[in-house]
Amino acid sequence: MTAPLTLAQMATQVLTTADGKAKTDLSRSHAATWFAARQQDPCPIEIGTAQPPLHPARPEHPELLSPRDVPKRKPGSEAGRIAMLHAVAHIELNAVDLHWDIIARFSHVPLPVGFFDDWVKAADEESKHFRLICDCLESLGSHYGALPAHRGMWKAAEDTVDDLMGRLAVVPMVLEARGLDVTPGMIKIFKQAKLTQAVEALEVIYSEEVSHVAYGSKWFYFLCGRENLDPKEVFHQLVRKYFRGALKPPFNEEKRADAGIPPDFYWPLADTVKPMQGL
Ligand SMILES: [Fe+2]
Ligand SMILES: [Fe+2]
Repeated sequence: MTAPLTLAQMATQVLTTADGKAKTDLSRSHAATWFAARQQDPCPIEIGTAQPPLHPARPEHPELLSPRDVPKRKPGSEAGRIAMLHAVAHIELNAVDLHWDIIARFSHVPLPVGFFDDWVKAADEESKHFRLICDCLESLGSHYGALPAHRGMWKAAEDTVDDLMGRLAVVPMVLEARGLDVTPGMIKIFKQAKLTQAVEALEVIYSEEVSHVAYGSKWFYFLCGRENLDPKEVFHQLVRKYFRGALKPPFNEEKRADAGIPPDFYWPLADTVKPMQGL
C-alpha cells in the first residue's frame, strides 16, 4: 500500500495543475480528504514538507498583461460587467493558489494544525468562488480566459516566499481585506443590472472572505505573540516593506473589525488622513 500524500504534497499538486477547472476540482477533493482525515485520531495525513514552484501553473488563457495594459472597464455596459466578473474569476483563481502556497511554502514552520485547517478551508472556498464566477461568465456567453488578466497578482507571494509574517500581513490582511472594501459596490452594480446569479455569487464571496481575513489576523497575532512583538508596529513595517503604494479608503471598517483588523492598523498606511469621527 502506498503512503497517503502529505498535506504539503497535496498543496503542491494543486499549484502545479494549470487548468482552472482541474485545479479547483483537485483543490476541493484534497480539502475534503484533509477534513475527513482530521476526523480521525491520530490524523492519518501528515503535514509533511514540499518545495512548491515559485509560480503556480496557469492555463494558456487568459493572456497575462501588466496592470497598466489591462483594458479599463466601463461597469455600465454588458461588456464592462463581463470584464468585471472576469477580473473577479482571476482573483479567485490566484487566491486558490495563494492559500495552497502558504500551506506548502511554510509547511516546515512549527505551527498548530489549526493553521493548516484554516488555509485548506480558505482554499476550498476560493475554489468554489472561482467556479461560481465561471458559471456567471458562461451564463453571459463568456468564459474565464476570454479576456486578458492582471499579471501582478502573484507578486506579493513572490516577495514573501521566506517571510510568513510578511505573507500574512500583505495577502490576507491587505489584499483580501481590500476585497471586503470593494465587494459591496460590485454587488450594487450587478443588482442594478438585475443579474441575480452574479449578485448571489458575490454575496457568497463577500460573506466567506471575512473569515479569510480573520485567519490572516489570527495567525499574525499568534506569531507576534510567540515572538513577543507588537502586532501593530510589525504590521506597519511589513506592509511598508512588501506593499507598494498606500492603502485606499474608503475602508469597510465594520467587516475589517469582524476580521480582527482595527482601524489603527490600516489608517496610518492610507493615502489620506483618517476623517474625524462625530463625537
Ligand atoms: Fe474568494
Ligand atoms: Fe479569500
